[in-house]
Parts: sequence; structure tokens; C-alpha cells
Amino acid sequence: MERLQKIIATSGYCSRRKAEELILAGKVKVNGEIVRELGTKASYEDVIFVEGKSISKKEDKVYYLFNKPRGVVTTSHDNLGRKTVLDFLPEDERIYPVGRLDYDTTGVLLVTNDGELTNLLTHPKNHVEKTYIVKVEGILLKQDLEKLCKGVVIDGKKTSRAKAKIKKIDKKTNTTLLELKIYEGRNHQVKKMLEAIGYPVKKLKREKFSFLTTQGLLSGEYRTLSIKEVKKLYQEAKQESSNH
Ligand code: URA
Repeated sequence: MERLQKIIATSGYCSRRKAEELILAGKVKVNGEIVRELGTKASYEDVIFVEGKSISKKEDKVYYLFNKPRGVVTTSHDNLGRKTVLDFLPEDERIYPVGRLDYDTTGVLLVTNDGELTNLLTHPKNHVEKTYIVKVEGILLKQDLEKLCKGVVIDGKKTSRAKAKIKKIDKKTNTTLLELKIYEGRNHQVKKMLEAIGYPVKKLKREKFSFLTTQGLLSGEYRTLSIKEVKKLYQEAKQESSNH
């Protein structure tokens, strides 16, 4: 069960704030009854009408796995006119990225019109594993690797458990390549974690999101997820939220 305004916003009908206005104005019906209470909860299976239009009429869901190139923004629009991930995907769908990757980060990005799955996967309680390959400046010391695993303070709050291992040390270029698995999705998390222990990130790639990889996809290419993969993502998202 979710708050009604969230279900309406998730359907893509309007923003959450606008949905609240519509509820207060008596413009929302759940299973045939007008609802005016802002705290009301409903389920995605309920029949919901907003301003006389059904929002529960399920639009076909689409799920894309995109191999994001460098130099592309993850937002739907960019005021500076830079390329967005949506420029690479079929145009006619009301789709949006699940979470963010930085402009210069490459790799696995999920893009969908499924608001429920997006909410599950991006909810702070969710701990889906994200695997990053990170190239940093400097030779990473063992004790610093441990710090990453135990948690470092970024934006005044300690990061939760992580897994890190060194893949390659290059003394000539004074860089280290490492694999970092994190279970949160804070803003610029990987860069900030490494910055916090003194190793600026030079290159960042998300190699895996849960079990999904970019295998078979060139940079800038996408594929649709199979029904089996979508089911598995739902399972993992729900499981991860209830385990923590
Ligand atoms: N962490 C970052 O710092 N940047 C990303 O794009 C993803 C995770």
C-alpha cells in the first residue's frame, strides 16, 4: 500500500504536489469513492480515477538496459543542451532512468516507465548491489581499502558496508584500478567515498546493477529486459528492502 498521491505521481499523471491538490479538491476516486484525505493509502491494483481519467489502466511497461557512454546526462532534459540518455532510446515512451549516473560515468543504467519498480529500486531502504570499476589517482593502500569496506564519512554520514578489491596497480601512471560494490545510492557516492580517503576518481564505470551487466552492448547501445529479468529485479528489490 502506498499513499494515494504517490501512486498518482508514479503513474506519470502529474507531480505529487499537484496530486495532493487534486485529492483535496475531490477530483480523485478510488474504487468508485471520492477520497479527500491526504494520508489515504491505496494499492497499484485499485481502480483510481483522477479528474475522470483512469490512471490504473496499465500502460505497457517497457524496460531498457542501457550502456551509458561518457558525456551524457541521466536527466530527461538538460538546460545546457547536452545529450541525455533518452536521446539513445525509443522516443515515444514516457520513460525515465532508474537513479543517476554522472555525466562522465559509463555503464549499466536501467530506463523504464515502471514507476513501481523505480520506487522499489531507488528507495533508501533498498540495498541492491551496484558494482563499480573505479580508476583512481594514487596507489591505494590496504588500510584504505579496508576503510572503504567499513564505511567512510561523506556529507556528514557514514557509508554502509561495501566490498572493495584491487584489480590492478599501475606504478608508472600512479593509478589503481579497483572494484567497489555498494548497496546504497547516495549522490556521487563512489567519487565522494574515494575523495574522502584521498584518492580522486579518474574514471568510473558501473559494471553491474544487481545481476544486470552491459554484456553484449556497445557503449550507447541498449536492449530490452526479458520478462524473466524483470521478475527477478522485482524479487531482488523486494527482498533487499525487507532484509534491512
Ligand atoms: N557514484 C558516483 O560518484 N558517480 C556515479 O555516477 C555513480 C556512483
